[in-house]
Amino acid sequence: MCGIVAYIGPREAYPVILKGLKRLEYRGYDSAGVALLDRELKVYRKQGRVAGLEESVIGKDLHAHAGIGHTRWATHGEPSDRNAHPHLSASGRLAMIHNGIIENYAQLKNELVKKGYPFKSDTDTEVLLNFIEYIQDNNHCSLEEALRIALKRVVGAYVIVLLEKDHPDTLIAARKGSPLVIGIGKGEHFLASDASPIIEYTKEVVYVNDYELAIIKCDELILKNLGNEKITPYIQKLDLELTAIEKGGYDHFMLKEIFEQPDTVFDCLRGRLDVGKGTITMAGVQNHLDKLSQAKRIIIVACGTSWHAGLIAEYVLEECCRIPVEVEYASEFRYRNPVIHPGDVIIAISQSGETADTIVAIENAKEQGAFIFGVVNVVGSSISRISHAGAYTHAGPEIGVASTKAFTAQLVVLLLIALKIAFEKRSIPEDRYMKLLAELQSIPEKIKELLRSADHIRNLAEKYKDARDALYLGRGYSFPVALEGALKLKEISYIHAEGYPAAEMKHGPIALVDENLPVLFVATRDAYHEKIVSNIQEIKARKGKVVAVISEGDEIITGLADDIMMVPVTDEMTAPLLSVIPLQLFACYLGMAKGLDVDKPRNLAKSVTVE
Ligand code: F6R
Repeated sequence: MCGIVAYIGPREAYPVILKGLKRLEYRGYDSAGVALLDRELKVYRKQGRVAGLEESVIGKDLHAHAGIGHTRWATHGEPSDRNAHPHLSASGRLAMIHNGIIENYAQLKNELVKKGYPFKSDTDTEVLLNFIEYIQDNNHCSLEEALRIALKRVVGAYVIVLLEKDHPDTLIAARKGSPLVIGIGKGEHFLASDASPIIEYTKEVVYVNDYELAIIKCDELILKNLGNEKITPYIQKLDLELTAIEKGGYDHFMLKEIFEQPDTVFDCLRGRLDVGKGTITMAGVQNHLDKLSQAKRIIIVACGTSWHAGLIAEYVLEECCRIPVEVEYASEFRYRNPVIHPGDVIIAISQSGETADTIVAIENAKEQGAFIFGVVNVVGSSISRISHAGAYTHAGPEIGVASTKAFTAQLVVLLLIALKIAFEKRSIPEDRYMKLLAELQSIPEKIKELLRSADHIRNLAEKYKDARDALYLGRGYSFPVALEGALKLKEISYIHAEGYPAAEMKHGPIALVDENLPVLFVATRDAYHEKIVSNIQEIKARKGKVVAVISEGDEIITGLADDIMMVPVTDEMTAPLLSVIPLQLFACYLGMAKGLDVDKPRNLAKSVTVE
């Protein structure tokens, strides 16, 4: 949800900012802009992608050693040049970028309009900026002081970075609810929404916390709270390589990330799983094993793809650990006054660790005494810091807007957590436990094997690319995979797709079936195999086109389906780790076949930092 970049130091600011914006474009691509401060404050903005901005500034004066840049996911005001950031204050002396939402902007705007402030955009950002300027003018104070006063009135979420015309040696930033990382170089500082624009310059970073202000000069970083007290910056070392955020020979990040899954699953298991000894090592679980294994109830909160991972975890935790589990959409959970008892365990699942609804849901639950366990991909992200304990998914940066490798990594971590608790509780037979550990260990190789049939899936995508709708069906562990397959297709190819438990089909969706409807079955071998075979027959009887994800050697479904996608045989509990991958590929190739930008699907943003 909007990417922000800023630079101050001896380099030319524009190339640093432009490159950073390209790296952050996955967060939003409705418009892009930069403000550069030399003797003059120069602002260039353009609706559309960063490449459009780059083209539009050719021949312009771009010289400056301080600047701010923004790539927008529109909230207040349509995507357009005039709503693009950076915004200029009414006097033109301040420029600001913003990621987040100012909820009480209408009230602030009314106050300012009454005082005669003009507005040039429809954004909440311009309101906040003019409000800051108004306070500065009225109080004859520094920008820092004005910002502190203004932010006390602001309801909402923000990361903002400001440039002030008469102070080209200073950037001022503040954060509440949206992410901000500051990279510390030699006589220079880099600011960004995540570390990807920073790593090629420095690995030393500070994650700014909520309600903190940063005053940044070339060789000075001062952090303060809103009460004007100084805070010692906590400098961390980034464990991230540049290659991890580049396409590495693939045309699209999404494709690269799908193909990375043998490695990401391996990385996620590395150092944790020891099949020989029959152990799972996870400090975050081990240190709180009593709390987790004695939980009366586990509530999983997440959104989107992470919520689908949560559904699979529900089945695994209930089966292995015999603990009741509820899976909640974070956006519903946070608003519906849920019953939470001290001792309840909340598992928050999030790739970005910055999803606004998930953050607030767990903050509310924490206040009511719940124990929060985060399953997060982005190291140092908000959810990882709010949680009492957690486990990282170690999938590496996920740049494609649609989540792929993060999902399988989440599944691995959740399986490991469940098995560790189950072993502690003795709620799983030892031979089953050992078999599942061995299965987990074999998954990276099995993913490699199934990826060899990518060309076949590409052909299927070509065959079905003109479908208007698609139905995805599965039972048991395969039902959430069906939901995830449908979500991927919707996001990437804009084909309407629905996921259902296969048995629910007869309660309504079967009415959709005709010879034009592809029905994708997730039908790997499990306890429900015969039942899903019957469901396939029911679709065939109505002339639906059946595409089935099946286990190798499944002659029955091979004989029934119009098309198949084969995955290696595995346990039903680990099957989602394999069966989801052909569906990711199918969506990706289908989007590519339609000529769509699979890395940046329309209207979406990678990290949903607004509710
Ligand atoms: C779908 C997708 C989204 C995210 C959702 C939650 O491909 O990427 O549905 O899963 O926005 O995001 P995180 O996991 O970052 O909390």
